[in-house]
Parts: sequence; structure tokens; C-alpha cells
Amino acid sequence: MSQTPRRIALVTGANKGIGFAIVRALCKQLDNGIVYLTARSEERGREAVAKLSQEGLQPKFHQLDITDPASVTKLRDFLKETHGGLDILVNNAGMAFKVNATESFGVQASVSMATNFTALLEMNRVLVPLIRPHGRIVNVGSFTGRLYAFEKMSKELQGRFQGVKTEQDVEQLMQEFVTCANAGDHMSKGWANSAYATSKMGVIALTRVQAADIAKDKTKEDILMTCCCPGYVSTDMSSFKGTKTIDEGAITPVYCALLPPGSAEFNGKMFSDKELYEFW
Ligand SMILES: NC(=O)c1ccc[n+]([C@@H]2O[C@H](COP(=O)([O-])OP(=O)(O)OC[C@H]3O[C@@H](n4cnc5c(N)ncnc54)[C@H](OP(=O)(O)O)[C@@H]3O)[C@@H](O)[C@H]2O)c1
Repeated sequence: MSQTPRRIALVTGANKGIGFAIVRALCKQLDNGIVYLTARSEERGREAVAKLSQEGLQPKFHQLDITDPASVTKLRDFLKETHGGLDILVNNAGMAFKVNATESFGVQASVSMATNFTALLEMNRVLVPLIRPHGRIVNVGSFTGRLYAFEKMSKELQGRFQGVKTEQDVEQLMQEFVTCANAGDHMSKGWANSAYATSKMGVIALTRVQAADIAKDKTKEDILMTCCCPGYVSTDMSSFKGTKTIDEGAITPVYCALLPPGSAEFNGKMFSDKELYEFW
């Protein structure tokens, strides 16, 4: 009798905060699965795994710095050799400057974009080819992408976002934002004054086009890519001011990661509180 292969799940930026809670929830809810807790720091990642082991859970650790192409490739090769593929990818890792940060807006825009948007794009370029039938890719976005980026942009930029068709269209918009931010004229060129929210707007737009590409590829049976906002969560990022616990913040990303077969209508969509968040 042949055994059903174990499902392999992987969460980025999972040594703390929402990512840590996503790993905890997946360890409990993923039947016949192996969950990888990844972190850029081996020490912080292994400490997080040890904490979950004390709760009787058994995530595995793999190092991953999403902004380091060598680290991403190493992970891809490891997954291919060890498991022959991947079933669930949660792109959770992210960063935000504090309101009192002293870095110039240009630096904040470049760094936020490199981690929150470009690294996520590259992760998907490298790892989506490994995703097996019925796989789920979840991009952790934020409704700030709508409230503090999209709604504050010029109508012309909004129209360009609404019209994106390819990854390159989204990349181009994000590059334009960074260039304007460095030149100090992003607001006069119609952009919002938030690097974090604009990078998350990029994640939402990217989800839409990458999901459409996946749907067109007939070799990718029932693979879904979604985007979600975890809500306002008490973590380092929110200076622990968020109203949700990390376990509450993990609920929607995990819901997206475990969408059952027959959920094709959700491909490319954004979720908040397990509900569709109508964006466009
Ligand atoms: N908290 C909220 O209210 C809120 C709301 C909406 C969306 N989000 C999103 O939710 C996600 C998780 O945020 P959080 O609140 O849990 O933040 P957090 O507690 O600050 O955790 C962020 C995680 O991302 C990791 N990370 C950052 N850069 C990385 C890189 N280059 N490679 C690998 N990992 C990296 C961090 O690792 P280190 O420990 O090594 O720095 C950390 O594990 C983010 O995408 C965030 O934008 C959060």
C-alpha cells in the first residue's frame, strides 16, 4: 500500500511575532505534515524551535535570509533534495521603520522595498516552481497598503496599479517609488508618504499578477496564491501596541494556507479576518 506523501510547509521570518505563531498553528493543524520554521539568524531560529518543542510541537529549522539570493537558492536545493518539492509557503518575513526612525525617507523606501517587496518577489520566483498540486502560497500583506498607499496616491498611479498585468509592471512601479523617494519628490509625483504601506501595496498587486500566471499554467493543478492582512498585532513591529495576540494574527494567514480544494475563486485575492478584503 502506498503512503500519502507528507505535506511540507515553510514560513519565513518565523523566529518571533506572527510568523512564529503561524508555525505553531500549522504544526497543530496540518495533517501528515512537516513545518519548517525559517529565520535569518540560526541562533534565534533554533531558540524558537526549542520553545515550540517545549509545547510538544515538532517544527524543523532551516536558515533563510529572504534578501540573500544564496540563502534562498540553498533552501530551494535543500527542499528539492529532501522532499522533492513544497506544498505550503507563507511569505511572512517583513520589516517596518519606527515612526521616530532617523534614516532619510529615501533610505527607508529602499530598505522597506528590498525586504517587503523585492525579496518576496524573488522568493516566489525561486520557490513557486517547487510547489506541488494543491499547494498554497500566502503573501502576508497589510491593509495599510490600501489605507496609507493606494488611497493616498494620485488617480493616475491608482490606475496604473489597477492595470498591472505582469510582475515587471509591479516591479516598475515599485522602482519608480524608490527613485522618487530618493530624489525627495515622491509626494509631488503622486505617491503616498509611507514606504511600508507602498511596499505592501506592491505585495498585494504582485499577488494578483503571480496568481494569474499560476492559473494560466495548466501544470499547476489547484495551486493558489493569496494575500492577507493579519490585523493589528502586538509584535516588535507594532511596538507591542497591536490589539491582537500573535496567535490571533496567525489565524487568517493559516486559513489561507489551508484553503481546501475547490477554492479556485480565491486565487489572487486578499483576506482579512478570514473574509475576502475587496481591494480593486
Ligand atoms: N504586527 C502587525 O500589526 C502587522 C500588521 C499587518 C501586517 N504585518 C506583517 O506581518 C508580518 C510579520 O510581522 P510581525 O508583526 O510579526 O513583525 P516582527 O515581530 O517584527 O517579525 C518580523 C519577522 O521577519 C523577520 N525578517 C525580517 N527581515 C528578514 C529577512 N531579510 N529574512 C528573513 N527574515 C526576516 C524578522 O527576523 P529578525 O528577528 O531576524 O529581525 C522577524 O522574524 C510582516 O510581513 C508584517 O509586515 C504585521
